[in-house]
Amino acid sequence: MDPRLKKLEERVALAHKGGGKRRIDKQHAKKKLTARERIDYLLDEGSFEEMGILVTHRSTDFGMEKQLYFGDGVVTGYGTIAGRLVYVYAQDFTVFGGALSETHAEKICKVMDLAVKVGAPIIGLNDSGGARIQEGVRSLGGYADIFYRNVQASGVVPQLSAIMGPCAGGAVYSPAMTDFTLMVEQTSYMFVTGPNVVKTVTNEEVTSEELGGAYAHASKSGVAHCTSPNDIECLEDLKKLLGYLPQNNKEFTKKVPYELGDEIRDVLKDIVPENPNKPYDMHNVIKGIIDTDSFFEIHKDYAENMIVGFARLGGRSIGIIANNPMFLAGVLGVKSSIKAARFTRFCDAFNIPLLVLVDVPGFLPGTDQEWNGIIIHGAKLLYALSEATVPRVTVITRKAYGGAYDVMNSKHIGADFNYAWPSAEIAVMGAKGASEIIFRREIMEAEDPTAKLAEKEAEYAEKFAHPYRAARRGFIDEVIRPEHTRRKLIKTFSMLEGKEVNRPDRKHGNIPL
Ligand code: COA
Repeated sequence: MDPRLKKLEERVALAHKGGGKRRIDKQHAKKKLTARERIDYLLDEGSFEEMGILVTHRSTDFGMEKQLYFGDGVVTGYGTIAGRLVYVYAQDFTVFGGALSETHAEKICKVMDLAVKVGAPIIGLNDSGGARIQEGVRSLGGYADIFYRNVQASGVVPQLSAIMGPCAGGAVYSPAMTDFTLMVEQTSYMFVTGPNVVKTVTNEEVTSEELGGAYAHASKSGVAHCTSPNDIECLEDLKKLLGYLPQNNKEFTKKVPYELGDEIRDVLKDIVPENPNKPYDMHNVIKGIIDTDSFFEIHKDYAENMIVGFARLGGRSIGIIANNPMFLAGVLGVKSSIKAARFTRFCDAFNIPLLVLVDVPGFLPGTDQEWNGIIIHGAKLLYALSEATVPRVTVITRKAYGGAYDVMNSKHIGADFNYAWPSAEIAVMGAKGASEIIFRREIMEAEDPTAKLAEKEAEYAEKFAHPYRAARRGFIDEVIRPEHTRRKLIKTFSMLEGKEVNRPDRKHGNIPL
């Protein structure tokens, strides 16, 4: 063989070996795939083109010049998923524990820059012991170079992160600034400071899993948008999620072929119970409206009183925001408002129309909520929806009370089309609470206060516990039968396809943070 070719082949072969068989076996023993295996599974077969395979670090401290690995702990490049171009990087835990050096960071920045220039999503597969300790500040600079690019790419191309191993210290801030973070259960964790530091500073005893495992971040902090039981399912979820997104902020998601014919869905008729205080699962309403099995839920286990996720309607990708009366009666709280606001802003940035399903009795009362800033966090959702220029359609299934009526994509804050079911109640508050306030004296002075309250409650309900006052004012465009909802929405979103809104010039708004 030509010795020059041999030299090349040897180097490429070494790069493919990563940190060597012993460390690869260790990775497998932990039920984790290697960086290359992950990329192979994620991308269309044979589509991966690697960049920077011959890069090595430049460190000479602590004898590092003798420990050179081609690729330097991260595999980067581009390829396709279902035929669509994506840029990808996967940290290789078998090389210095996937720790980030200056050159490792440069490789990531290179693909990020290309992703923005070309206009294609960037997917990061994280599995790293953090900053390369031997490199000190050069490594920290590398992180900051990535963070800066995360921000520049935000709202330009979709950025997806999968956490498939450790992700600690400063490293967490890159995924945090991407659009979606997926975590693998049991084998991944994220925290700013690990259990040892926690113990020293706060005297708390906590394991890595408890502190920053997939469950903690999916249900308590909201840092993780989705979790998967293993690497393969996580990579499958990434592919699925990508299917709902466009390539960049100038494009629209391609419609997938969908045979219509099932637009009338009788199943929607009986979901809302007669008794307005009885809960029901809004997931069933969503299921009844969308294309079969097309719901991809985001933040499934976090702030469950609000549902958000992607779905298809007649083959078109939409974002859904919905109160869920199954949890806390569907109230708006701190976490649910933040959850829905963030999702709204993603959809708006990437031209994904929004469907908002409303059954909300108001904001969650109490010192916990007030002291944790429900005012500012509720305002986030109000702001995000008011700002969104994508097609926005609302369906009120039952309660739309008080300020929460305004917030949940009301006509007044720019919704394009507002539907209500006949079971909708659009009022300042429920009939009982309202009667207790406005007829207080009458009730107190009555011979039988209980009977009086019931009488006044019925009177108030007759006046307001329906959608017709709002419909008379045009705040509701149409009161529809539940079973017709899917058909109406397919037509409405199709009608709104050409929507264009021009806002006055400004540097940026000042969303309440
Ligand atoms: N910089 C350089 N090398 C690192 C590293 C880092 N930040 N983190 C891990 N490594 C190396 C280890 O030295 C080890 O090298 P070896 O294969 O030559 O023995 C290899 O990566 C694997 O690490 P190991 O500790 O054996 O793996 P583990 O699965 O038992 O533990 C961590 C993983 C991440 C918990 C552990 O490595 C760790 O605590 N790393 C340091 C985290 C940190 O403080 N980072 C800096 C601040 S952001």
